[in-house]
Amino acid sequence: MLRRGLSKNLSISSDSLAQSLNRGFSTETGRKLEGKVALITGAARGIGKATAAKFIDNGAKVVVADIDQHIGEETAKELGANAAFIACDVTNESDISNVVDFTISRHGKLDIMYNNAGVACNTPPSIVDLDLQVFDRVMGINVRGVVAGIKHSSRVMIPRRSGSILCTASVTGVMGGLAQHTYSVSKSAVIGVVKSMAAELSSYGIRINSISPFAVPTRFVLEEMSRLYPGVDASRLTEMVQNAGVLKGANCEPIDIANAALYLASDDAKYVSGHNLMVDGGFTSFKTFNFPAHAPDSVQ
Ligand SMILES: NC(=O)c1ccc[n+]([C@@H]2O[C@H](COP(=O)([O-])OP(=O)(O)OC[C@H]3O[C@@H](n4cnc5c(N)ncnc54)[C@H](O)[C@@H]3O)[C@@H](O)[C@H]2O)c1
Repeated sequence: MLRRGLSKNLSISSDSLAQSLNRGFSTETGRKLEGKVALITGAARGIGKATAAKFIDNGAKVVVADIDQHIGEETAKELGANAAFIACDVTNESDISNVVDFTISRHGKLDIMYNNAGVACNTPPSIVDLDLQVFDRVMGINVRGVVAGIKHSSRVMIPRRSGSILCTASVTGVMGGLAQHTYSVSKSAVIGVVKSMAAELSSYGIRINSISPFAVPTRFVLEEMSRLYPGVDASRLTEMVQNAGVLKGANCEPIDIANAALYLASDDAKYVSGHNLMVDGGFTSFKTFNFPAHAPDSVQ
């Protein structure tokens, strides 16, 4: 049956909807990662930082790995004694190998590897104008960097026959048209990488999953938006990003991705592997016809 837009038939205010949705959410911190050791790339800020804080609240020790030494060190200080920073450019395999070895020498093991570092691409919209050097650079960070992270974490997880590997993909890797080709392709590849690696790693009891967030107004997205809308202030750009969501009464925030990562990293997800967890408020699940509430007098 064809659906007509529901919004005109409902008179619930967005405030009361937000209140009723948020009532169900617990902000209590459990200890789901007690005794676990996690390594997170791109954890100096944004989604990675929120996840590092969430993991620490849940009993983990976290190694914050990032290319930005200054912010990375500040973040580790802010997160406290259970966080340590190490500089790492995920495009250098030796850096990735080094952060894994650092984690082992500091904590004796690696339970959770979260390959989260990623960049926007800032390329022209048409394939005809694509600069393949930029394409290679973005793939080097968003895909090769993830593969290197999986390779070196597997090196230390396989002998222990346990571990949970996470990767940040995106809604733009699931549907076309939401981002420039290069970024979209890189995130599609991450989802494919996870499925391919799950085939091997499951035989060692290691789980691997990806998370696909909707747009979150982190620095990454706000920089992209301000290139598209020069002169528009950050709060207006944030509002524009949030208004693009379909789930009324809630916005996609770094904590939502951190909560998804906590679930996938913990024993709550002990039988979940090869999965791409959408954190998109339903955005990629449906389209509507947007028929008007009442039929027009005549159809031209
Ligand atoms: N924000 C969103 O809307 C959104 C949506 C879907 C997916 N993602 C993905 O989430 C991940 C985190 O993004 P964010 O929104 O928190 O952005 P962010 O820019 O706030 O954080 C990205 C972090 O990655 C680090 N980084 C960049 N290049 C690196 C490299 N070569 N080596 C190591 N670290 C590097 C940056 O220094 C930064 O700390 C990315 O993979 C991004 O593609 C973001």
